Amino acid sequence: MLENGPTYRGGSGREDLGAGKKTNTAWEATLTEVLMSRLAGKVAVISGGTSGIGLAIAQRFGKEGAHLFIFGRHREALDKARQLIGVSVTAIQADASRLEDLDRVADAVRNAKGKVDVVVSSAGLVEQVPLPEITPDHYDRTFALNARAPLFLVQKMLPMMGKGGSIILVSSAMHYMGLPNHSTYAAAKAALRSYSRTWAAEFKDSGIRANTLSPGVVDTAMLDSQATTPEQADAIREGYANLAPMHRLAQPEELANAALFLASDESSFMTGSDMVVDGGVSNV
Ligand SMILES: NC(=O)c1ccc[n+]([C@@H]2O[C@H](COP(=O)([O-])OP(=O)(O)OC[C@H]3O[C@@H](n4cnc5c(N)ncnc54)[C@H](OP(=O)(O)O)[C@@H]3O)[C@@H](O)[C@H]2O)c1
Repeated sequence: MLENGPTYRGGSGREDLGAGKKTNTAWEATLTEVLMSRLAGKVAVISGGTSGIGLAIAQRFGKEGAHLFIFGRHREALDKARQLIGVSVTAIQADASRLEDLDRVADAVRNAKGKVDVVVSSAGLVEQVPLPEITPDHYDRTFALNARAPLFLVQKMLPMMGKGGSIILVSSAMHYMGLPNHSTYAAAKAALRSYSRTWAAEFKDSGIRANTLSPGVVDTAMLDSQATTPEQADAIREGYANLAPMHRLAQPEELANAALFLASDESSFMTGSDMVVDGGVSNV
């Protein structure tokens, strides 16, 4: 069923802008590349930048000229991501739900660059639990990473942000939907939607914009985390693909395209909004 749907062929999109046009000399090509870069000279901080959506965003922002600070809990994943991203990236081992770790990330950014242009909160977790089985531990774990951590991440980056700054909170289209077993996850993601509205008003004189990005189901390791066997993971993927009118999952790069728009000045009149990239699943 998955292979029957329309497919995403990827690509940076730059080809369409003519950036691939041949120039006479190497320096002209380099200059063209720099001028075409939508995040040239910008500093972006990305939680969960080692996997899935966060990694795709980091790779895309890197290609567009940003210097990246990515963080996650596992050293090996950070090293791998640094290699994949290739250029201009600082990888920090940090847990987004620990305030002292967020302070360390903020200190590293302050000491190295002294400013932040874009904050992406992508670190998140999902545990499907029916209401009768929800424990305080599950509730606290879900809210600690999905709702509490993004607020404190932004709070700690804010003093380094100024006019033109962009905050992108990776929420979920699930906060629009009533899907069984997602009480805590959907509610925590709804909190992000609420933050962006509040912050749009709170930051109105500073020129900093705040938006949420709400993906439908994306083909990442998060889907595997909900399965105990590869067969079960395949069934989960197929089940979710069948829910969407497009009959497929999103690829992380499709979310990175949307995040690039929100990060860049191309979305300069957008704040307090939710960009839904869900293959239509929350609208049918
Ligand atoms: N995949 C989907 O279908 C989907 C749909 C809607 C919304 N989303 C949202 O999109 C975001 C990214 O999900 P994904 O699918 O890309 O997941 P993923 O591939 O599992 O990646 C999760 C990332 O978050 C990091 N992370 C997890 N816990 C962390 C913590 N305590 N501190 C710092 N980093 C942490 C992970 O690194 P470490 O494990 O090394 O820390 C990893 O880099 C999440 O907020 C998720 O809720 C996903």
